[in-house]
Amino acid sequence: MSKHNESWGSRVGLVLAMAGNAVGLGNFLRFPVQAVQNGGGAFIIPYLVCFLLMGIPLLYVEWSMGRFGGGRGHHSTPFILDSMAPKQFLWKYIGVFGIFTNVAVAAYYCYLESWTLGYIWHSISGTFKGMDSAQVADFFSGYTAFDDYSNVAFWVFCLALNTYILSRGLSGGVEKVAKVGMPLLIAFGVLLAIRGITLKSGNAGAVYDGTEGLNYLWTPDFSSIWTPKVWLAAAGQIFFTLSVGMGSIQCYASYLRKRDDVALNAMSAGWMNEFVEVVLGAAIVIPITVGYFGIDGMKDLVQQAGGLGLGFRTLPYLFQQWGPVLAVVAGVLWFGLLFFAGITSSLAMGTPVLGFLRDEFGWKRTSAAWAFGAIVFILGLPTVLFFKYGVFDEYDYWAGTVSLVVFAMFEIILFAWVFGIDKGWEEITRGADMTVPIIFKYIIKFVTPAILIFVFVGSLPGIWDAITNKAIYEQIGKATDGAVIEELKRKIFFVNISRILLVAVWGFIAFLVYKAYAKRRREGRFTTSEI
Ligand code: PHE
Repeated sequence: MSKHNESWGSRVGLVLAMAGNAVGLGNFLRFPVQAVQNGGGAFIIPYLVCFLLMGIPLLYVEWSMGRFGGGRGHHSTPFILDSMAPKQFLWKYIGVFGIFTNVAVAAYYCYLESWTLGYIWHSISGTFKGMDSAQVADFFSGYTAFDDYSNVAFWVFCLALNTYILSRGLSGGVEKVAKVGMPLLIAFGVLLAIRGITLKSGNAGAVYDGTEGLNYLWTPDFSSIWTPKVWLAAAGQIFFTLSVGMGSIQCYASYLRKRDDVALNAMSAGWMNEFVEVVLGAAIVIPITVGYFGIDGMKDLVQQAGGLGLGFRTLPYLFQQWGPVLAVVAGVLWFGLLFFAGITSSLAMGTPVLGFLRDEFGWKRTSAAWAFGAIVFILGLPTVLFFKYGVFDEYDYWAGTVSLVVFAMFEIILFAWVFGIDKGWEEITRGADMTVPIIFKYIIKFVTPAILIFVFVGSLPGIWDAITNKAIYEQIGKATDGAVIEELKRKIFFVNISRILLVAVWGFIAFLVYKAYAKRRREGRFTTSEI
């Protein structure tokens, strides 16, 4: 076996890299919007419950699975899962999800990440100066519609940067970026959050106090607590933000040593993510937007422009109200923060691909890094070219939402029921620098799998509606204008093609896993499933 030697430089570096993996665009762009779309204060209770009953248990499980597989020379989920279930050959194909999700999410995520670079540039060069709010919003539409192709340039640059850092390895690349990026991100976030919270009506053109936005988010509202949709959204956000169900945590953890702590490290990275999300992530976009547009105005904006609207279409305009100097400073802080959040996550998406190619096919790190860059480029191209036809959202739905739940459901069943909770508990607690509350043993065995199955089954009707393009057909039904109908039909075409593409990618990875398995047999390196 081409056992590649690679390890983390220090514990601080590991925790920062893991926190960097979790802290991403999801914390600053996705969380606030999910909260608004699901009733503000009504969202927060299901969200916290999902964190405790699914997020924390899955963090323990994924960290310890990773360390377990890494000790046996596996650095990506197909063979990590395989090593946990002797004689059951199908698990490695479940593990395909742990590579698939990473490349498919990276394909749209890196594009989004590259906008932050473009917007740093435009903030510094004063592009938004003197624009009214509609012009700033239009600028975003133009940017993603190739007004000047700078979006493509920033995207390619961003991919090259990711590839380069990955080719420098874990301690020489990923860890260094995390050590610089995470503290800066937190510092930038704190500055912007202070501004958001202290924004006063009448000050810099604001109409309301920033704290109104915070109150909206934090006043618990029990009325919609029994609404399944709110629970599904909360679970989805917990998965996305913690990067669980993804395969990247297992990969990072596979570079630990056998007796390295997993319990405390997992909690440090996980709670750091929650701090950044519910404290900083909540205190920037919403309070600032509410300060100018009020709660209803902010809801309208979210409604009109969807998830990414506030961060890219609205904030650059609001920053302009703070005077020329502060506008540039705030733009750089905001988009700089998003960039660091994004890159430390996209690097985590690359690592499993590198681990797989190096373990199974003996590739050199640099070649594997370039392979990842090339895959993300090819798979990302449709999201760049056909952004307006919803290809981007389609990737996000299948790879960034559905796959995570499916994979997490299988892996927790594997861990608690096939591998066995007693052995699993031994894995979690070995070398632990904290006492893991024993209740988690039972939560992992019964509660988390039950909720996951429940969430999965509960989302099946929605998945079916998505497959049948129900929402688009409804829009077509309502539309009267022929051109609009044509455009919607084209959207159906692109959406269907992107699904076929995603399925093909999954199949191709499964094929590689099969090849790797055959190669292992030929070389007499049996997988654990045959021992
Ligand atoms: N957790 C990251 C975020 O919040 C994104 C991510 C998702 C990273 C899934 C890896 C896997 O943006």
